[in-house]
Amino acid sequence: MTASAAPDRAYARSIRLSVAPMMDWTDSHCRAFHRVLAPNARLYTEMVHANAVIHGDRGRLLAMDASEHPVALQLGGSEPALLAQAARIGAEWGFDEINLNCGCPSDRVQAGRFGACLMREPALVADGVAAMIAACDVPVTVKCRLGVDDDHEYERFAAFIDTVAQAGCRTFVVHARNAWLQGLSPKENREVPPLRYDWAYRLKRERPALTIVVNGGIAAQDEATRHLDHVDGAMLGRAAYHDPYLLHRLDVAWYGGELRTRAELLRAYRPYVEAQLARGVFLKHITRHVLGLFAGERGGRAFRQVLSEGAHKPGADWSLIERALGLTEEGLRSDAA
Ligand SMILES: Cc1cc2nc3c(=O)[nH]c(=O)nc-3n(C[C@H](O)[C@H](O)[C@H](O)COP(=O)(O)O)c2cc1C
Repeated sequence: MTASAAPDRAYARSIRLSVAPMMDWTDSHCRAFHRVLAPNARLYTEMVHANAVIHGDRGRLLAMDASEHPVALQLGGSEPALLAQAARIGAEWGFDEINLNCGCPSDRVQAGRFGACLMREPALVADGVAAMIAACDVPVTVKCRLGVDDDHEYERFAAFIDTVAQAGCRTFVVHARNAWLQGLSPKENREVPPLRYDWAYRLKRERPALTIVVNGGIAAQDEATRHLDHVDGAMLGRAAYHDPYLLHRLDVAWYGGELRTRAELLRAYRPYVEAQLARGVFLKHITRHVLGLFAGERGGRAFRQVLSEGAHKPGADWSLIERALGLTEEGLRSDAA
């Protein structure tokens, strides 16, 4: 057995804070924005099926900006030879980690025999992971659930982890709830099955050599920080997307540095935005990811409104963002007065 590329200190550091892979959300524009907010976090792509990596439009599917590192490519699939080929391509395209999705519960994914239903096929996952490790020289990691449907035995979950770890996987991101494969939509599957962080904690206690990242329902700074007493990292999904300033606060709290204002951070994103506009990207494809920046702030509504109403118009450019910021700052000032 060959182990996945040994996690070095930089890896251990960046795994502390990560942003979850999210289909339709964590595209390259989104990740470049999150990178500005959280210079030290580890970022993940949307899931891309191994077949798509091999046969699809790589320029689009594997688009990545140089600022994004460290960034992991998340693969879907279960056929070891295809996973290996896709992992090799991902590493060649510059991704810093290849992550295998063993947590997605959608019908489409089940029909394709990948995602969460792989929790029931540890030997197949182990074969896939071994093939990926042999094919590339970046860490190969797995994102999984606790189990599927009515799996309620910790031992079964731990046996899954052990089988995959024996194939060389050293890092597991545990979305700490089951996936219910019948009767729940993917959205409900992120909310209804109860969270059991204690399983992830126990895994780390019993298998200290493995890197364990906990995910699921983490929505506040103190809550995220408490997880670090038990595991190696916390991965945030929806909260990071809907309230991206939380990422900045976590990055500063955990890695150091000065807290910057929301407006400063957005302006630091400007060079990326201008470069994308110059390449013909429409502003709306970028601004949709920043709408939550002022979430919970007085000016937040005006900010969202200006961007939502203007970003799809022909010729929309950075000046729209400045207008949104101006109104928001005005709202904040009148609030303070
Ligand atoms: C819109 C959306 C898309 C998602 N797509 C993926 C995906 O492609 N791969 C994956 O492993 N998980 C995906 N997830 C699940 C998240 O990675 C994460 O495990 C889940 O949202 C729980 O974390 P949270 O409570 O912090 O959001 C998605 C979640 C959302 C909200």
